[in-house]
Amino acid sequence: MTGGERGPLAAFRDYEPEVGRFEQDVLAGLAGAAKSLPCKYFYDRRGSQLFERICTLDAYYPTRTEMGILRAHVPAIARRIGPDAHIIEYGSGSAAKARILLAALERPAAYVAIDMARDHLLAATTALAREFPEVEIAAYCADYSAPLEIPAPRRRRLARRVGFFPGSTIGNLTPEEAKAFLVGVRRQVGVGGGLLIGVDLKKDTRLLDLAYNDPDGVTAAFNFNILVRINRELAGTFDLARFAHYAFYSAEHGRVEMHLVSLTDQDVRVAGTRFAFRAGETIHTENSYKYGIDEFQALAGTADFVEGTVWTDEHRLFGLHHFVAA
Ligand code: AVI
Repeated sequence: MTGGERGPLAAFRDYEPEVGRFEQDVLAGLAGAAKSLPCKYFYDRRGSQLFERICTLDAYYPTRTEMGILRAHVPAIARRIGPDAHIIEYGSGSAAKARILLAALERPAAYVAIDMARDHLLAATTALAREFPEVEIAAYCADYSAPLEIPAPRRRRLARRVGFFPGSTIGNLTPEEAKAFLVGVRRQVGVGGGLLIGVDLKKDTRLLDLAYNDPDGVTAAFNFNILVRINRELAGTFDLARFAHYAFYSAEHGRVEMHLVSLTDQDVRVAGTRFAFRAGETIHTENSYKYGIDEFQALAGTADFVEGTVWTDEHRLFGLHHFVAA
């Protein structure tokens, strides 16, 4: 771990998140009986840009809906969180939602942004630190799914910790992984701490199908980008014209699944290893779980997050949940 140039930031910690596992994970995923790739590898520079574009699409309702809920209800959310909070955001990106939250909170003590994308993280938190000079703002370049020691703010050591995990990124974890993540957050915030988390709700399948099969093909490009990345970084020989984007809602699993389907029988090489594909065989690249309100409250309860309050939009597309750590 290194501490870097921090400018107006209270702290910058660089845990130098490991990226060298890419080859290992790809080879293991393609060797399985059902081929799969971890969705975290979507987010190289181009993948992150494509995801940002997805968030602006008419078809992709979650981002604007969550923003709308946050803007409409932020005074109530701030009251629920209470004064003197120490906000810890997991996967902070542009920190646009944190900005809205910090502006509404009563005397926020500190904000820690955790993200793997170092440059983006520093730019976003430096801007926030200039806007909120009274808040101790820290940037941690790290993989938030691994345990992380976060010290108390220097000026207000007793500030109550509140985890912030917007965007329904929890949906990209299996329910078991989601529980493990929530248990980790619960440990990090301590008794009496809180959690503010955005979770996409179960809904009409047609809306989900459209959101993950947008007519502009941006989601398809995002999905294909993982093959582009493998070709570039792991000497892959994927011929993109021989695969298709395939996304659908599985009611059985309560999730949108994204796949890349092979259009022909073909062999592909990755880092010197050959993989055979049958026509119609898929690589499962992402799950995006959707939760009913009760269902998510029950899941959070298994990690000792209680007293659930939820704010939704008028069409009940998305839920922004607050919990207290028991
Ligand atoms: C980041 N995550 C919450 C997005 C989702 O909806 O599951 C990623 C995404 N995949 C396709 N479109 C957006």
